[in-house]
Amino acid sequence: MQFSNRISNMDFSPIRKLSKFAKETEKRGIKVYHLNIGQPDVKTPDTFFEGVTNYNENIVKYCDSQGIDSLIESFIQSLSDSNIYFDKDELMITHGGSEAIQFALMAICDPGDEVISPEPFYSNYSSFAKIAGAEIVPVETKIENEFHLPGEDLIESKITNRTKCILISNPCNPTGTVYSYEELEMLARIAKKYDLFIISDEVYRQFIFDNISYTSCMHLSDILDRVILVDSISKHYSACGARIGLVASKNKELMHNILKLCQARLCVSTIEQFAASNLINTMNSYITDVKMQYKKRRDIMYTAMSNIPGVVCSKPEGAFYMLAKLPVDDSDKFARWLLEDFSYNNHTLMFAPASGFYATRGLGKNEARFSYCTSIEDIKNSMIILENALEKYNKISKVKILDLAEQ
Ligand SMILES: Cc1ncc(COP(=O)(O)O)c(C=O)c1O
Repeated sequence: MQFSNRISNMDFSPIRKLSKFAKETEKRGIKVYHLNIGQPDVKTPDTFFEGVTNYNENIVKYCDSQGIDSLIESFIQSLSDSNIYFDKDELMITHGGSEAIQFALMAICDPGDEVISPEPFYSNYSSFAKIAGAEIVPVETKIENEFHLPGEDLIESKITNRTKCILISNPCNPTGTVYSYEELEMLARIAKKYDLFIISDEVYRQFIFDNISYTSCMHLSDILDRVILVDSISKHYSACGARIGLVASKNKELMHNILKLCQARLCVSTIEQFAASNLINTMNSYITDVKMQYKKRRDIMYTAMSNIPGVVCSKPEGAFYMLAKLPVDDSDKFARWLLEDFSYNNHTLMFAPASGFYATRGLGKNEARFSYCTSIEDIKNSMIILENALEKYNKISKVKILDLAEQ
């Protein structure tokens, strides 16, 4: 039996691909710290669960393909708190930010089209692009420059007549970089010059630290018809399993077309939408408190990581990930070794090898993404494990190299 080229060309998620090894490790009685995944340990607000209880229909019906009115209205209101303004027909509820990005790409790309994205990028972008028949064309960003965007010329040099859009996450997963107003203005100039859309994935937009100001692409008034905003409750309200997000654009023609995709999948889960619409009643302090917790965790991880010999990292400005260069030849191999051959006081660590966040072959080979949406104690223990593991791994590697030299 044959499978499609589309599915054969897709990769497994670098965030989840080591899970089967971690399960084996746990079966052997070793505790694994899961810093590979962006699953917050924060409690989902009570308002969400109250919303579930408030659902008092006796049939779980299909609802409107665009989403239920109360949820659309509550998103419009909460976005307006960030000076982002949409009318009702400019916003559609999706199964998380994931479906929002897929719908945006499917609406604007034909097979063979290209999507410019700064790399490293959220690894599922490759899969989303492939589902739409498109390819990611990466623009390299570097740790030495804290993963900020390169110059305009370099980005323009990647544009061809197949380029349809620029796709960014801001704040960025996996680097934690927050793009400045000037960087976004540069992207806006490029988008105008080459007639491109910008898909702005802002699912971490409320987690920005150190008083860095937040610019949404929706704040760039002269390109509003080119911006497609993606948002989600997954990270902001620690509600990843609810699968509630949104796609929004001032380009009404685009949204009218995206409605076809929404209708083809009928609707987003009705009860989850009811629950999510009640999040509007969450105290403002919820997000502020969560953000403070992440900042504290970021500081602890960054300080510990910076003190590990040979590790190079840049301080994340937002989201809850840190990308670090490790003193190893291959972080994929090191990640497996941590799970299969190493433990420290019966504990070990799982991270996401960074090569899967790059489209350019060979890049990110000695880099790794660590998430810090777990407890301070787990972060501290993980950093101790990492330091000990690196020391042992490099000793073993040196012995192996010496043995080979003697043979
Ligand atoms: C940058 C980015 N965009 C989108 C998503 C998908 O989020 P959702 O759970 O809303 O589908 C994630 C999830 O980790 C992410 O990191």
